[in-house]
Amino acid sequence: MPMPFNGHVTAFLTQQAPEELRQTVETARKRDTLAGSYPYPRWMKKSDYLDALAPLQFELAKLQHWLADTEQRVIVVFEGRDTAGKSGAINRITEVTNPRVVRVEALPKPTDRQQREWFFQRYVERLPAGGEMVLFDRSWYNRAVIEHVFGFCTPDQRTRFFQQLPEFERILVGDGVHLIKIWLNVSRAEQLRRLLARENNEMRHWKLSRIDIEGLEKWDSYTHAIAETFERTHTMHAPWTVIRSEDKYRARLAVLQHILGTLPYALKDADNIPPPDPSICGTPAIWDA
Ligand code: ADP
Ligand code: MLT
Repeated sequence: MPMPFNGHVTAFLTQQAPEELRQTVETARKRDTLAGSYPYPRWMKKSDYLDALAPLQFELAKLQHWLADTEQRVIVVFEGRDTAGKSGAINRITEVTNPRVVRVEALPKPTDRQQREWFFQRYVERLPAGGEMVLFDRSWYNRAVIEHVFGFCTPDQRTRFFQQLPEFERILVGDGVHLIKIWLNVSRAEQLRRLLARENNEMRHWKLSRIDIEGLEKWDSYTHAIAETFERTHTMHAPWTVIRSEDKYRARLAVLQHILGTLPYALKDADNIPPPDPSICGTPAIWDA
């Protein structure tokens, strides 16, 4: 099997990363715990996580019935830097739901035809019908961040994106769609620790993309693009929720608590849904670049 990206993360860490960052990552690897500053020094215990997850997944079953019975439409946008944990959080939802009701959309890079369309068109095709919840693993926010950082769009295209975006989301929400926007926030040290783990595990090589490798040097341009995105797109009608995801378990619980807490589904049992931990979940004010 080809391993096109083998060694790049290690090379970055040992040759290019600032000394302090390298030390933080190496200490975390030695101690086998999360890297960077986080409200908790250690990962949540797996058994505690599974105990907390069970009632939330039970509530998801009720949410799914409500979606189907009342023909609601729900969109959850999952955004965040590479390795932030988008797919893991999404999988905790899809592993207990029906793919005909809850669907994931992870669009590949645009085709030639899509390049010539209105930017939002490719996403409009994937929006939910009544009775569906669509989980976007990356979304239209690609234009705000990745496409900008990698030069896949022109400055004019991005300007137009920011002009159209509030109206685009307003139309969705005004039409009755429930729109939830989640930003998973991972520190630079923890991102590096995770990319190294991928590099050192053949089963996870497929998860290392060219974007991940080239992105290693682009941390600061991501930071600027993300800050601007929050400034321009954290609106009253479509606010962001930021969840700090250095600890994947705590982050996944907060994602489920936020979604279940927000949606007004029938037979909700509030006792099963503690409010998300405010030290890791809140408005963009808790975002830690
Ligand atoms: P992921 O991190 O989601 O597993 P990648 O790291 O491969 O996937 O790519 C990140 C995102 O960048 C994807 O949403 C992909 O569609 C987008 N992307 C990759 N190449 C291009 C491109 N040439 N133009 C626009 N978007 C692109
Ligand atoms: C994630 O968990 O955030 C996704 O796997 C994206 C990635 O890092 O490739």
